[in-house]
Amino acid sequence: MLTQTESESNHNGDYALSVENLSKNFGQRTAFKNISFKVAYGEIFGFLGPNGAGKTTTVRTLGTLLKPTSGQAFVGGIKLNESNSQKIRSVISIMPENPGLYGRLSIQENLECFGELYRLADPKEKIAQSLKAVNLFDRRNDLCRSLSKGLKQRVGLARSLLNNPKILFLDEPSSGLDPVATKEVQELILNLKSKGITVFLTTHRLEEAEKLCDKVAIINTELKLIGKTDEIRSQLFNSTVELKTVHPIENTVELLDNNPDINSWTNSESTYLLQVGTPSTMIPKIVNLLVENNVEILAIGELRHSLEDIYLKTVENG
Ligand SMILES: Nc1ncnc2c1ncn2[C@@H]1O[C@H](COP(=O)(O)OP(=O)(O)OP(=O)(O)O)[C@@H](O)[C@H]1O
Ligand SMILES: [Mg+2]
Repeated sequence: MLTQTESESNHNGDYALSVENLSKNFGQRTAFKNISFKVAYGEIFGFLGPNGAGKTTTVRTLGTLLKPTSGQAFVGGIKLNESNSQKIRSVISIMPENPGLYGRLSIQENLECFGELYRLADPKEKIAQSLKAVNLFDRRNDLCRSLSKGLKQRVGLARSLLNNPKILFLDEPSSGLDPVATKEVQELILNLKSKGITVFLTTHRLEEAEKLCDKVAIINTELKLIGKTDEIRSQLFNSTVELKTVHPIENTVELLDNNPDINSWTNSESTYLLQVGTPSTMIPKIVNLLVENNVEILAIGELRHSLEDIYLKTVENG
């Protein structure tokens, strides 16, 4: 028979992260409160929120660096508590916003220091693998103080790969990087996913979350919203269909105002924004009606809202 702990652990072992009503206070200050979510293995999970929302504190708590005030969590199927800290640390890695490298040591020497900390069985081989994974192998003898910010981030990423983590926490990995360096880091993150690593990514870059993440959560001390990006979009917004015609529509009353499939509409000359229920079923009906009435259509399609719209709406709504 399974003990309570074993049965909980098996149940939650299906997920890379399983968090239930977790809270963390620093004295009177609440860093995050009652957050619950699950992250499947192999997913990139985006954790978004404004400054001070509790993102880093969540990472540090799940990474066993801080003790939660209440609630429970399983990290890699292991229950988060003090006696399991070591076990959890053997399956995760955290890349903090500032990697904190030794400037006077080379990239290779920096990684060797951490290789010793991790007591790696074959540090040379593992360091070489990690450096190759972030395209830094050729620069391994460069001193860290001579590196650009983007390259330092990559060393941080290489360091976080040394212990073969199943789950990798990346705290704003592209913060302060230029577009080229950002793209490189994003490609590296996708590469990690392709190797089966689960990535917990905090970011301020919404387009980054939209591009990389399978699932997104928005936190502002409490969890405001969680879901797949597409699901989140339809949860918050009416679907908007953009219609472009060759000439402005003449009989708008009959075709738009009195059209039961259109909730409301606005236009600017021959470009119309139509609020509808389900675009996939409404668009063909709208097209048929317009064509029957000799309206010449240039283009029609669903407008995708950017994650930024969702984010601002969610954060502003408290
Ligand atoms: N060690 C600490 N002692 C006291 N308060 C703290 C401590 N660490 C964080 N806080 C507070 O907890 C709240 C959440 O901070 P946290 O660093 O988790 O936010 P964040 O979402 O990572 O913000 P940012 O986007 O600015 O990095 C803030 O109000 C912060 O001041
Ligand atoms: Mg932070």
